[in-house]
This record gives sequence, structure tokens and C-alpha cells, in this order.
Amino acid sequence: MARLEASCEVEQCEADGASARRELLACVAGKQALVSMVTDMVDRPVIEAGGTLRIIANVAVGYNNVDVAAARERGIVVTNTPDVLTDATADFTLALVLAVTRRLGEGERMLRRGDWKGWAFDQLLGAELRGKQLGIVGFGRIGRAVAARAQAFGMTIAHASRSDAGMPLDRLLATSDVVSLHVPLTPETRHLVGQPELARMKRTAYLVNTTRGPVVDEAALAWALKNRLIAGAALDVYEREPEVHPDLLALENVVLAPHLGSATTETRTAMADLAVRNVVAVLGGDPPLTPVA
Ligand code: NAP
Ligand code: GLV
Repeated sequence: MARLEASCEVEQCEADGASARRELLACVAGKQALVSMVTDMVDRPVIEAGGTLRIIANVAVGYNNVDVAAARERGIVVTNTPDVLTDATADFTLALVLAVTRRLGEGERMLRRGDWKGWAFDQLLGAELRGKQLGIVGFGRIGRAVAARAQAFGMTIAHASRSDAGMPLDRLLATSDVVSLHVPLTPETRHLVGQPELARMKRTAYLVNTTRGPVVDEAALAWALKNRLIAGAALDVYEREPEVHPDLLALENVVLAPHLGSATTETRTAMADLAVRNVVAVLGGDPPLTPVA
């Protein structure tokens, strides 16, 4: 805020609650720059209300919340925050992989309920990572950073990609012990993993989603977990955040995190800093540092 205030007049909009949308539509009018969060739906009506905008600086690497085509039509630059959050998000993905394969959530819930009767030889046995295959869907910055970490745990890596000679998605799903999703949310990737894809996975396999909720059909996932079609899942993102499918909340074999992928002090500071530098550059007549493609 201090860096922004040094070069512009700043108005803060109400970020949440029922009035957030109304606030955003009102707030954007007459402004040159909008700094948006993943929770702000910067769609055509917002962009039209912000007729004077020159830049939309989304404080996230994903920009599915911004209608980039509508912005482009009006000559508005859209920027995101790539790279600075790759390590934090990859670290968190590994945290989820370990949590679900070693049944950390189940163990903690049992202990907090007062149901832990002490050490037992066959209590909450999980699965090891060494020698197992990690299937990465979306082999970009975060996908590759996850692969590097998983290799240190002795995993072999397979990946599915549109642009290089990866493994076909069907084969990746059928052969992987852990499947981790890192594609952006686009019309093509919405419900990329639904009932047929889950049915293709090994019964001993785990699904991890730290990208965007709608990439997975949540109802189908709850069905697959309930019927033990897969061993477990770990989610950081949901189809209708902050709602979580009620069946998932009731299941033991799923780890649920509240969209924490990039949530470290260091990374959130770097994301904010990059968004501010984009705003200052564009308003100063310079090219943006990280425009979306
Ligand atoms: P990135 O570098 O652009 O990587 C995305 C990769 O997905 C690209 O390599 C792209 O490759 C591939 N891809 C796109 N569509 C595909 C498809 N249909 N099938 C297979 N691969 C496809 O982006 P990133 O920095 O790694 O970030 C990835 C996503 O992570 C973001 O979009 C965001 O949604 C999510 N994210 C979540 C959190 C969190 O807090 N949980 C934090 C940061 C990021 P090609 O285009 O070459 O196929
Ligand atoms: C967070 O979800 C991001 O896309 O940066």
C-alpha cells in the first residue's frame, strides 16, 4: 500500500461479503488501475464499469477470474504474479501429498477427539512415496517444481502436457500412484478430472489438487472416495469457494486445506510487490513486467 500510495491515489474496496460485487462495480469507475485478488470476479461488467482502466494487476498467477478478452478489447493490460509463488505452492503441494499418504489429518482428528489409546503396531498405516509414480498434469512452473521435490522423496515422475511429448492423460491416470494437478483453469480444463478419469485411477492412488477447484468434478470425487475407487485425495481449492461439497467434509480419506498454496509471508509480500510494480510501470508509461500471454 505504501508503495502504491507513493505514486497514486488509492481507494480500497470492500473485499468480501454480499456487497463486495456492488462495491467493486462502483469502486472501479474512474480508476486507471485495478489490483485484484483471485476472489474478485473481474468480468465484462466490471471491465465496462472501469472504462478508464489501463491495467488490471491480478495478485495471483492464475487469472481465470479476469475476462482477459474483454480487457484486451479495451486496450487494458492484464498482469499476474508468476514465479514468485512457485516454490511456496510446490512446497505446499508436497505437504498435501505427505499429509494424505501418511493419514495426518485422520490421526490428528483421532487425537483431538480423545480417541487415541496409544501407539499400536498397525495404527493408521499409510503409503510410502519411494519408488512410486507421481503423475503431474500441467508441467509448467509449479508442476516442474513439484516434480523436483518429489524426486528427492524417491518418486518417479510422469507428466501430461499439451505441448510436449508427455504421457497421454489416460495412461498417466491409470499408472500413477499420486496424481497432482497443475493446469490453469480454462474452458478446456474445467472438470478435466471427473467420474471416468477417477475410475481409471488405481484403487491405491491419491489425487492432489492445488490448482483450481473446477478442474475436478467435486461431486464425482466425493463419489470415488466414498466408494474407495481411489485411496484418498488432498485439496487446496474447491469448485465454489469457500463452500466445500458436504460429502467431502464427512469423509476421512481426504485432506482439506483452505486455499493456502502460496500463503507464506515471504511469497505474499513478493506477490503484492510484483503487482504494485506492474501498476507503477504501466501508469508511468512503461511496459508491464508480467503481462499475461
Ligand atoms: P504455468 O507455468 O503456466 O503452468 C501451467 C501448465 O499447464 C503449462 O505448462 C501448460 O502447458 C499446462 N496446460 C495448460 N492446459 C493444459 C491441458 N489442457 N492439459 C495439460 N497441460 C495443460 O502456471 P503455474 O505458474 O505452474 O501455475 C499453475 C496454476 O496453479 C495456476 O494457473 C493457478 O491456477 C494455480 N495456483 C494455485 C495456487 C494455490 O494457492 N493453490 C497458487 C499458485 C498457483 P501448455 O500450455 O504448454 O500445455
Ligand atoms: C493462487 O491461487 C494463484 O493463482 O496465485
